[in-house]
Amino acid sequence: MSITSQNIRNFCIISHIDAGKSTLADRLLELTGTVEKRKMRAQFLDMMDLEREKGITIKLQPVRMEYETDLRVALSDMPFAKGHASRPRPFAEGKRSWSLDTRPYCDSQWQPLRHALYTLNLIDTPGHVDFSYEVSRSLAAVEGAVLLVDASQGVQAQTLANLHLAQEQNLAIIPVVNKIDLAQARTEETVKEISQLLDINQDEVIRISAKKGTNIEKVLEAVVRKIPSPSGQSDSPLRALIFDSKYDSYQGVIAYIRVVDGRIRKGEQIITLASNASTEVKEVGVFKPQLTKADLLQAGQIGYLVTGLKEVIQCRVGDTITNEGKSPKPLPGYHEPKPMVFASFYPTDADDYDLLKDGLAKLKLNDASLQYEPESTQGLGRGFRGGFLGTLHLEIVSERLKREYGLNLVISSPTVSYQVITKSPEKELAVSSPADLPEVNKIKETKEPWLDLEIITPSQYLGRLMELLNQTRGQYQESQYLTPERVLIKYQAPLNEIIIDFYDKLKNTTAGYASMSYQLKDYQPADLVKLDILVAGQKVEAFSRIVHRDKAYQEGKALVKKLKEVMPAQLFAVSLQAVVAGRIIARENIKAWRKDVTGYLYGGDYSRKRKLLEKQKRGKKKMKQFGQVNIPEEVFLKVLRK
Ligand code: GTP
Repeated sequence: MSITSQNIRNFCIISHIDAGKSTLADRLLELTGTVEKRKMRAQFLDMMDLEREKGITIKLQPVRMEYETDLRVALSDMPFAKGHASRPRPFAEGKRSWSLDTRPYCDSQWQPLRHALYTLNLIDTPGHVDFSYEVSRSLAAVEGAVLLVDASQGVQAQTLANLHLAQEQNLAIIPVVNKIDLAQARTEETVKEISQLLDINQDEVIRISAKKGTNIEKVLEAVVRKIPSPSGQSDSPLRALIFDSKYDSYQGVIAYIRVVDGRIRKGEQIITLASNASTEVKEVGVFKPQLTKADLLQAGQIGYLVTGLKEVIQCRVGDTITNEGKSPKPLPGYHEPKPMVFASFYPTDADDYDLLKDGLAKLKLNDASLQYEPESTQGLGRGFRGGFLGTLHLEIVSERLKREYGLNLVISSPTVSYQVITKSPEKELAVSSPADLPEVNKIKETKEPWLDLEIITPSQYLGRLMELLNQTRGQYQESQYLTPERVLIKYQAPLNEIIIDFYDKLKNTTAGYASMSYQLKDYQPADLVKLDILVAGQKVEAFSRIVHRDKAYQEGKALVKKLKEVMPAQLFAVSLQAVVAGRIIARENIKAWRKDVTGYLYGGDYSRKRKLLEKQKRGKKKMKQFGQVNIPEEVFLKVLRK
């Protein structure tokens, strides 16, 4: 049977984190025979080791499935109703399958019936708020979304956030409740919540267990029935949206594309409309989920292109690909993701700087949202300042640098980016690093980023949750009961208060039941100062940070106390001071002490004594000299690490 675009369905699965997207994808892969049973493993589409270990999806992952079905459809959906082919006629004996596009037929009860082979392109997406850029890109490449909700959790914050993204793209939504097998499942309440949310009948919500494989077929049927086929024209000039890309050291940039109009084959000359890079297509293919060569890709299909381009910048995610010489209207792209948190990366061994540089460059090839620039600090040497979508994103990047490049890193605790408006000339600066903060007398105003926060919680925890929120300097907006037992709270708060440990506190306060999502709102005035640390009167830039003036004393005191705990004794007394605008706000002292490394060796074994003295000498090499004081690298590690 031939596959026309009428037989294609492009969709993704969206949900809150852990609702079971990857597990449902596993069942779909099995049911459609895309992956052989013996090769099946749990969360098959989570390809990265880190994803499998952490049990979370980080990268979107497309896969193409074939699905053959007899499907009852409404008369109005039949091709003849759209102006072609014949009127329906009774089911002809011996002819169970007809080509879908031209010859619709009916079953013996005069019900319209299609027997057809469908191509289903699924994109599995991450659920964590840090990776919503992956979700928005996936949504732009499809016509429908399976909205998955965990029956033991009900509708969660990221369910709403991702649903809003899907609705903005006018996607068909298939509501599904998962984990109905769990003893603590609240299936019917959850169905009710979803039906109210989407304003639909409760019987339209499909109840499944992805783990046990219950009702999975119903999901596939709904995908075919409810999601429209792609509407592009194969005869028009080529327009393909790049929704992801991957770098391969042999083949160069591999673009993941959704062909909207036209068709594309190996050997054709293509051009990217925004970055104006031209190249010859080395290979086209589809995701099974492994990259599998194909003859061509045409309107409505999702697949990949080996471009041979050496720089991802020439083939940016969101750009439109067309045939050389043509200039159709570009497809709508994506908003560049905005980094939310910043942190510095330094190799513990200065010789590893080039390895770190190389590692970051390679990660960036597959992660468009990663931003970084070189930085150097007295004390830590050369490193990089990175911008990340959230703390989980930061954790994943540092973990990958450690594993894939064997790097040992000092990573500073995450900060946000402030807006600083300078006096004459009046300029607006984005400042995340204390080193970039202008002198106090040159600053006109400082502002900090604020978030729109949405939290969904069982109503029994509402009181304690409000207490927690009140500690964030935030402002309550409104609340809305989704059901008598579950409340959606809207709040605004400074990003700085939320980004570090708010999520853990939220989970602790609500026995793990509350969920949250957020979006950057705007920048609001904040009284910010630079907190410096002096060691024996000498400023150690690596310890500086930007803080709120009214928290400067508290933070300065904590910092010098911590430093005192981790600094080894020196040959003379050393002062540790926290300073704001030249004024000392906190102070600690380290007493003089000489560590005699050979002290416990009595007797005359000189060679052992010499060995120990040499070891001590080697250790000193790893120290950084600040005036008369040596600070070992591990002190930086301990003070700076989260
Ligand atoms: P992210 O991509 O990280 O957001 O997670 P996900 O939505 O892909 O969830 P995943 O498939 O990784 O499942 C999360 C956990 O729920 C895993 O431990 C699954 O085994 C479990 N799980 C998924 N579906 C079911 C189900 O139907 N029943 C039960 N009991 N557990 C399930």
